[in-house]
Amino acid sequence: MPNAKKRIGVLTGGGDCPGLNAAIRAVAKTAILKHDMDVIGIKDGYEGLIENKSMPLSYEDVSGILAEGGTFLGASNKANPFNYSMGGKKPRDLSTLLLRNIRAMKLDGLVCVGGDGTLTVAHKLYKKGVKLVGVPKTIDNDLRATDLTIGFDSAVITATEAIDKLHTTAQSHHRVMVIELMGRYAGWLTLYAGVAGGGDVIIIPEMPYDIKKVCKVLIERNKKGKRFSIVVISEGARPKGGRMVVKRIVKDSAEPIRLGGIGNKIANDIEKNTGLAARVTILGHLQRGGAPSPFDRMLATRLGSFACDLVAKRDFGKMAALRGRDIKAVDLKDAVKSIRRVDPEHPIIKSAIAVGTSFGI
Ligand code: F6P
Repeated sequence: MPNAKKRIGVLTGGGDCPGLNAAIRAVAKTAILKHDMDVIGIKDGYEGLIENKSMPLSYEDVSGILAEGGTFLGASNKANPFNYSMGGKKPRDLSTLLLRNIRAMKLDGLVCVGGDGTLTVAHKLYKKGVKLVGVPKTIDNDLRATDLTIGFDSAVITATEAIDKLHTTAQSHHRVMVIELMGRYAGWLTLYAGVAGGGDVIIIPEMPYDIKKVCKVLIERNKKGKRFSIVVISEGARPKGGRMVVKRIVKDSAEPIRLGGIGNKIANDIEKNTGLAARVTILGHLQRGGAPSPFDRMLATRLGSFACDLVAKRDFGKMAALRGRDIKAVDLKDAVKSIRRVDPEHPIIKSAIAVGTSFGI
């Protein structure tokens, strides 16, 4: 009797981003075409593994989704199996139930497409015996051991376009336009979009700002006849000696703190200290929406396909990562030991300073 076909599962966890469907497609098509495996799509991240929500994926199911934003499997950035609230009850550790469900699904391997929260959980599950590999995605680009994550490039494009649009209205009304971008505790998205969009002041979490310095830059621009300014600020930024602004706490999430609101604070302080008119745009979840950029489609295809190969080789506990121009297997534990933040000496920062951009320090 021939051996039963191998069976691979795929889930997307945490906050969504452009490129997730491209990653699911890559895992599934590689599994079907190259390794003759059956594919199971797990719905809503780890929630699907605890509450048994899954579906078989055929070639047709994953055809035509390369350019679609979001994730057709659904995602959850609340579902932490080690602290899970089922049916509104008090959160508890349901990781053993998850393990039982995976066994019942007869999965030979699982691909977890996720950011820091999802892959930290994946690493804990791997240590508990789950045969899995990771694929890095997040608009925050804050995972270690990979040069870039799926979704980051698309979010940079969205944020840059928003800054471009703010430029024209800022010019007409001679205003200071503050734009607050996502990224949690890492300033990558703000740095890239801020530089690409020609922000006059760029403020990132890794470089706490001095409000006096920020105001001085804005007043000097005004004196030189530049009667508008653009301030690009990360949601995780804080003034020197001050705190980040927390919007809400999501108790049972792997990452409970939700940031947001620093844009309003700095705009008030700018108006108070300079007399200039300031307006705030909090770009929010727009940064996670829309179609993936060509780069993200390509990255997701390469990482997803490579992750499937890792499962076929039974090389578990790894993450598919972009290293230079190559895709390589790295240890999952190295990807999640801490987040990757911007070095204030980063060459992009040096170039930005050279062209007159202020970092508010
Ligand atoms: O990690 C991705 C991210 O979009 C962060 O940049 C942001 O802080 C957070 O998720 C927002 O989470 P939620 O979707 O729960 O509001």
